[in-house]
Amino acid sequence: MLRQWWLRGVGACSTFTRAHSGCSTSSSMKPKRAIPSDGLQLSDFIREGTKKQRQKAIIPSIEDTKEYLSPEDLNGNGKTVCYVTYGCQMNVSDMEIVRSIMSQYGFVESDQKEKADIVLLMTCSIRDGAEKKVWNQLKLIRSNSVNKRQIVGVLGLFSVLMNAKISYLTGCMAERVRHDLLEKRNLVNIVAGPDSYRDLPRLVAVASGGSNAINVQLSLDETYAEVQPIRVDAESRTAFISIMRGCDNMCTYCVVPFTRGRERSRPIDSIVEEVRRLRDQGYKQITLLGQNVNSYRDMTSMDFPMNPSTTEDRVPGFKTVYKPKSGGLTFTSLLEKVADAAPDVRFRFTSPHPKDFPMQLIELIASRTNLCKQLHLPAQSGDDETLDRMGRGYSRDLYLRLVDDIRIILPNVSLTSDFIAGFCGETEEAHQNTLSLIREVGYSFCFVFPYSMRGKTRAHHRLTDDVPENVKARRHLDLTTVFREEAMKLNQKLIGTEQTVLLEGKSKRDVAFSHGRTDGGVKAVFDNSKSQLNPGQYAKVLITEANSQTLKAEFIRETDL
Ligand code: 5AD
Ligand code: SF4
Repeated sequence: MLRQWWLRGVGACSTFTRAHSGCSTSSSMKPKRAIPSDGLQLSDFIREGTKKQRQKAIIPSIEDTKEYLSPEDLNGNGKTVCYVTYGCQMNVSDMEIVRSIMSQYGFVESDQKEKADIVLLMTCSIRDGAEKKVWNQLKLIRSNSVNKRQIVGVLGLFSVLMNAKISYLTGCMAERVRHDLLEKRNLVNIVAGPDSYRDLPRLVAVASGGSNAINVQLSLDETYAEVQPIRVDAESRTAFISIMRGCDNMCTYCVVPFTRGRERSRPIDSIVEEVRRLRDQGYKQITLLGQNVNSYRDMTSMDFPMNPSTTEDRVPGFKTVYKPKSGGLTFTSLLEKVADAAPDVRFRFTSPHPKDFPMQLIELIASRTNLCKQLHLPAQSGDDETLDRMGRGYSRDLYLRLVDDIRIILPNVSLTSDFIAGFCGETEEAHQNTLSLIREVGYSFCFVFPYSMRGKTRAHHRLTDDVPENVKARRHLDLTTVFREEAMKLNQKLIGTEQTVLLEGKSKRDVAFSHGRTDGGVKAVFDNSKSQLNPGQYAKVLITEANSQTLKAEFIRETDL
């Protein structure tokens, strides 16, 4: 029988029923500081762990795995892998990391889902709808496959399992995972959490031996800093760089802190290096990514110990559930460095929290043409009591004051937001308050989601999901309708103005037309048949027509940024 140190709790868990001989000490599989084996608790976010907790968080040495697999067992030897990605840009970016790791180990990409030796599905579980899609896709993959030995792996957020059967929620995570997905449903051979992509070659080796393999260990410091992502959409000349992972905010509705773990940031130098590499390859837009992107703080830089100028990073009045953080290099420093490293590349970032928008950051954005004047400012609700129950750390008034302050420095800024319709206890009056906030701010785009209760969250423990589904659906529609009306007004104000558009590709409807985005992030379409510009080139255009989502334009000339 194998030693099963990863068989405990929410942390690493992996079931081996067959022994693998030899030793495995691949350098890329070095052990990371890990979340305690009994999982993340509320207290882990409220204060820094005690020394005892931190000691507990160190996973056993990789030496313990020596007897299981040889380096040769981890080699893909040309096995084919089909990658399927669901969810947001963060998942696309994670899959680029997975591609890179798998190709280093000799696996080869294939787009033949039915025939591939391995299918890896990147999942999202932040909301219920996304999870349902994954279940359906898993069933389809199994029924369409012509490869009877095909290995199927589910990657990313594993709350797909946490929420699969609500009655299991108090049990041991490892047990629930095995029971729900690997054994009972018999759809999947591998489950890998967001911090265990480096372990995939080993998990594949285990699954190839006929066993199911799971590693949902969360880490305190995994950032995949030195993994060079393999990008799939090179044509558009736009790329994403993951700069931090995890979230410490603990909004009461949100499962991310539990599924993605605690906040940790990539060292600044590795990000600047990646920016330079992309610039040299001809990329013209880079979006910096993170669950809580503007909470970025590089603590590895010893040159800046407790420099007070690097610690002023929170908007006054906004509250957090954690102790104020200090020292290191903040998001403002990072943004300044990347903007200067690639002056002809546009930068955007997502997804931020409103509390992390100090005025230095806004002033920096105002001072650089390559920092786009488009800010995502997720409000979630416009009602004080709802915001309080959501644990967002701000009131409607504070949020609106932030919007005003930003607009003083960036008068033409384009704002976008996220809203949740029908959160626990949301009254009709509260909903009206959210509609009025949308009218008052005037967003150029909003992502609106009907609330879905997620296991492990504080809302799941303490609140009641009491808004009926039909009411959620109606409120969802109201929010969408109102944001579109406002977006339409904003876009129509652009008619007659000149805008700089970065070309991304050809229009699907008419190849004479190309599409790109304005600095504010709005899609613009123009006739490119005479100018023949390529993706990655900037065009000065005149806006001639507008609806709530798209601008029509006339080409004026090619331009630099
Ligand atoms: N239900 C609905 N929407 C949610 N979001 C996060 N958790 C939930 C949930 N349980 C939304 C928030 C967040 C976005 C990424 O997803 O609006 O900003
Ligand atoms: Fe979730 Fe965003 Fe709140 Fe973090 S800040 S808990 S990711 S909603």
